[in-house]
Amino acid sequence: MNPLIRFHDQYPPEAVGSLREELLAGLAATPKHTPPKFFYDRRGSELFDAICEQPEYYPTRTEEAILCSAAAEIAEVVGRDATLIELGSGASRKVRLLLEALHPACYLGVDISRDFLLASTRRLAEDYPWLEVHAACADFTRPMAWPEGLAGERPVAFFPGSSIGNFTPEEAEGFLEGLATLLPAGGGLLIGVDLIKDRAILDAAYNDAAGITAAFNLNLLERLRYEFEAQVEPQAFRHSAFYNEADSRIEMHLVSSRNQAIRVAGERIDFDEGESLHTENSYKYSVAGFRELAGRAGFEPRAHWIDRDSLFCIHYLECAA
Ligand code: AVI
Repeated sequence: MNPLIRFHDQYPPEAVGSLREELLAGLAATPKHTPPKFFYDRRGSELFDAICEQPEYYPTRTEEAILCSAAAEIAEVVGRDATLIELGSGASRKVRLLLEALHPACYLGVDISRDFLLASTRRLAEDYPWLEVHAACADFTRPMAWPEGLAGERPVAFFPGSSIGNFTPEEAEGFLEGLATLLPAGGGLLIGVDLIKDRAILDAAYNDAAGITAAFNLNLLERLRYEFEAQVEPQAFRHSAFYNEADSRIEMHLVSSRNQAIRVAGERIDFDEGESLHTENSYKYSVAGFRELAGRAGFEPRAHWIDRDSLFCIHYLECAA
């Protein structure tokens, strides 16, 4: 058994300073907003895992069902012995559905949530003793380089969960362009993308009856309190999530229930009653729409898999020569 992982720290404490600046810039903007990566402290990552278990939140179970049923086909297109790099690896749960079929030369999990990343990749290394496991603590939304010493000749990025939907389409194109520069010609991208669908299904998925998505959204304020010396009462805000059909996106907001001033990192931020802090977008794409976007970023479509209810799509794309 090889429970060892190789850890690459690409997110040193200095990076927290720039995170603070990013946060304050968003809070000072009109409308006020925060980047979705702020959700993922340890508690936020746990709450996100709990969201994935909610009956209304179809993306996770649908994507997992596609990965299970299409694993052999995916392995045929992707090939064995790749360097499999999971972006935003979180609990490294979905990759388990592919490992036996894909048999990569090595796995690299990349995530911003250090403790969570270490715990998940250690468990993966314990459960797959034949696999060389690496973990990189990094903000993959910013330019990064693959760590040295990864086994395998052909990098294949794995970006499940429709996390690409948390970028605006322009950001998504820029992100994929950046990824294309890290991959050689023929390098692969296996990416899960949520499909455009009936708004009732979408609204329910982000307003689960158990209130887990609301807790996930509100946890952002708790994080501001302990990590950014914020003076804010989370109970003075409420969760709001709805589908914006014109922009094909779910919007999540924290709405102020009264006129109030909060303080973050020494800065005063005023909220009117009903004013919102826009905490997340989750864009939905058609198959053709996503292919076009990825094509502009330098990727060519090779294959895609969709569930029978047309809820979710997994694309396999390759870097154009
Ligand atoms: C991680 N990301 C793809 C999730 C989504 O559906 O946009 C985050 C999430 N936000 C609320 N529920 C889930």
